[in-house]
Amino acid sequence: MFQFRKELFCEEEALVIGLFSGKVCKSFESLNDVMNGSVSEYANAGDISSDYQVISKLLTHKQAQPKRVYFVGLGDENNLTRDRFRKAFGALFKKLQGEGITKVSIELDGLVPSELSPKECASLITESMGMATYQLAHFKTKTKEELPYVKYLTFVTKETEEDLYYSSALGYALSKGVNTARHLVHSPANLLTAAEMAEFARELALMHDFSVEILEKDDMEQMGMGALLAVNQGSEEPPAMIVLKYQGLPEWKDVTAFVGKGITYDTGGYSIKPKTGMPGMKGDMGGAAAVLGAMETIGRVQPKCNVLAVIPSTDNMISGSAFKPDDVITSMSGRTIEVLNTDAEGRLALADAITYAKHLKADRIIDVATLTGGVVTALGSWMTGAMTNNTSLFTKVSAIAGQMGEPVWQLPYNEDYRAQIKKSNIADLNNSPTRKAHAIMGGAFVGEFAEDTPWVHLDIAGTSINEQSHELGPKGPSGVMARTLASFAIHS
Ligand code: BES
Ligand code: MN
Ligand code: ZN
Repeated sequence: MFQFRKELFCEEEALVIGLFSGKVCKSFESLNDVMNGSVSEYANAGDISSDYQVISKLLTHKQAQPKRVYFVGLGDENNLTRDRFRKAFGALFKKLQGEGITKVSIELDGLVPSELSPKECASLITESMGMATYQLAHFKTKTKEELPYVKYLTFVTKETEEDLYYSSALGYALSKGVNTARHLVHSPANLLTAAEMAEFARELALMHDFSVEILEKDDMEQMGMGALLAVNQGSEEPPAMIVLKYQGLPEWKDVTAFVGKGITYDTGGYSIKPKTGMPGMKGDMGGAAAVLGAMETIGRVQPKCNVLAVIPSTDNMISGSAFKPDDVITSMSGRTIEVLNTDAEGRLALADAITYAKHLKADRIIDVATLTGGVVTALGSWMTGAMTNNTSLFTKVSAIAGQMGEPVWQLPYNEDYRAQIKKSNIADLNNSPTRKAHAIMGGAFVGEFAEDTPWVHLDIAGTSINEQSHELGPKGPSGVMARTLASFAIHS
């Protein structure tokens, strides 16, 4: 899939050269020489541009091999963050895809900005390649097949294969995780039930040698997972508590747990959603998708760390047996919960999953969930809302998320907010205090179950769907947090 070579010219379909503003790289000069100065003429005429994200194409007319050269405009070298780097290459790979190119060479050494290393750049390039060219599956009976995309990538570089291979594979593994998450979020709820999600996790485990445990309804009853069971109570589909373990250390210690909300469909239950609020709720397992995507990356990369994935999964339906507002339920932690709103179901499912993660020796917990409409109101689709009981864990997660282009913004979590969750005349907690600050209330409820375990909560209700197609992917599921979680594990 990835190759490494020293010579600039070759017989592939296309060669890619990166251009910084106000700087001429060696490969540009070599090409210009072979083409008798015509490359700099085009550049002077504005037909080849170093402006950020502009892709220029040059046909070499038998003066040089290969037939086509693509220039990627990278703009000001000092301004080229990882995020901007990825997006420039995303734009390139989308363009190549549109032109049916499947084999390219990229001249690496000339496009490495001062802030990054060749390794990092190789990784960012393969990451963008996988993300940008991804196409969502569909069920249309009369549509064209999927577009071709770059499958063979050669880096032209002085670096050695030993040095670059891991980085290239890492970037690609990150993109694979994102695409897995996108695929899962995209899948309709009649096809992706809790049992199907469990099956998906089983296959992932088989492929990457994870240990896997799927708790079924009986198991949950025995363990007293009354919160998850309450959400499932109105459904014909059995629930699943999906557990994967990746052990990269000799012993099961220093365990990072990823907990992902896996509501395969959220009707709201008896606190039913309005008919305009329901379409899209097949994506209410975006947290679970991010966790499974991250596990796919981790499986491919095999880092030296221990990771636990816990996914509580069910749909939230209505029937004669469904749970209702006013019901009092008992969570696995032993604490009782007054249900004030059956549409605040995600936090109930997460409560038991977090308790179970602690039971399985989690030393730190990161939960990811499409938890509240409130976070969409607060932050829109540009940032993920975060809460924490541990500043140093949050700082680490936030830094990695920022580098991955998945920025998070911290919401407050203090006694005043926590007190609202504990207000109930009949139970220990209530699942939905007021509409006030409800993104925070959702997180605060979940935080009660993390107790003293270092915990970060990521509310992706606003970031899990892209409303438009973009440099790094199609319109639709973003796969957000799959890369952040995987990178967190890989760098821990
Ligand atoms: N799954 C929803 C949150 C959601 C909303 C996700 C929009 C994606 C887009 C969640 O279960 C929910 O219904 N939350 C309620 C909470 C309320 C009942 C306190 C909400 O946001 O209105
Ligand atoms: Mn809901
Ligand atoms: Zn929900």
